[in-house]
Amino acid sequence: YFMPAWRKGYLQCGPTKCAMPARFGDLAQTILDMDVRDDDVWVVSHPKTGTTWTQEMVWLIGNDLDYAGAKVNLPERFPFIDHTALFDYRTMDIPMPELPEFVTDSVGFIDRLPGRRFVKTHLPYQLLPTQLQDPKCKAKMVYVCRNAKDTCVSYFHHCRLLEGYTGDFQDFCNLFLSGAVCFGPFWDHVLDFWKRRDQHNVLFITYEQLKQDLAGVIRRTAAFLGKQMDDDQVERLKDHLSFESMKNNPAVNYEEVIEINRRHKLITEDGVFMRSGTVGNWKVLMSPEQSKRFDDWSAENLKGTGLEL
Ligand code: A3P
Repeated sequence: YFMPAWRKGYLQCGPTKCAMPARFGDLAQTILDMDVRDDDVWVVSHPKTGTTWTQEMVWLIGNDLDYAGAKVNLPERFPFIDHTALFDYRTMDIPMPELPEFVTDSVGFIDRLPGRRFVKTHLPYQLLPTQLQDPKCKAKMVYVCRNAKDTCVSYFHHCRLLEGYTGDFQDFCNLFLSGAVCFGPFWDHVLDFWKRRDQHNVLFITYEQLKQDLAGVIRRTAAFLGKQMDDDQVERLKDHLSFESMKNNPAVNYEEVIEINRRHKLITEDGVFMRSGTVGNWKVLMSPEQSKRFDDWSAENLKGTGLEL
């Protein structure tokens, strides 16, 4: 593998053989066993499907449009439970400054949070806390997905910017299609939630819907979270969630993390987190052959599921 996080090897976890860095082995059981609270809100996704966008929307709606509070860095107010499993700086041979607890002990940090929790995870359904997997669980889950080709291209750039990936795009496509990128296989991840889309505590949304009808998704999310929003409030949130606004918002654009990577020369491609923000950007990078492989693979996986992306 070509990423520092995989230097200690990787594991295939759960029934779908989800690809995780070896370090996840230390945390898997703790996450499965953790206490879920009735008023928790979890945003679950495969990487690069619009997670950050969804988190910002969910956090603001869930916190009665507290724009002042939203100035706090997103990873602090909406921690990423898998963080410690992924960013094991101890294996990266670089001197690190003091890291916040939500990085060094993401599971403990979330466990100890007072008040209502907003939790991000890329874990597939089967690796979520067992309590959350219970269909009667009251905690809410918002699942976001995106078409496979844009997800793969976005993930490729992400891995070059944030994971020190040194391979080329062809290699990355092979890894993605074979389920060997972190949190893959992609379609198992998506379909495990698609199957549960009508469950009372699941809201299933797509990146494409966010692009096409942001106001509509905001209203659906507000209804799901039991919040009232008038037209002006929806308009203001729509502006806040626009690509331009999020690109310039230091609380959500991971500038600081990218800067650490830049300082430690972990970057194999310069760039920004809020990269293209479009549907169909795969066309810039994918060859017709690669595109066909993705189309055939997606068609095969989606046959009979009713999901179209
Ligand atoms: P691109 O790399 O295609 O630009 P995640 O948060 O799951 O890592 O997803 C990141 C992707 O969502 C990136 O896609 C990023 O640009 C896009 N994104 C984030 N905020 C967005 C917004 N407000 N509007 C459109 N795209 C957004």
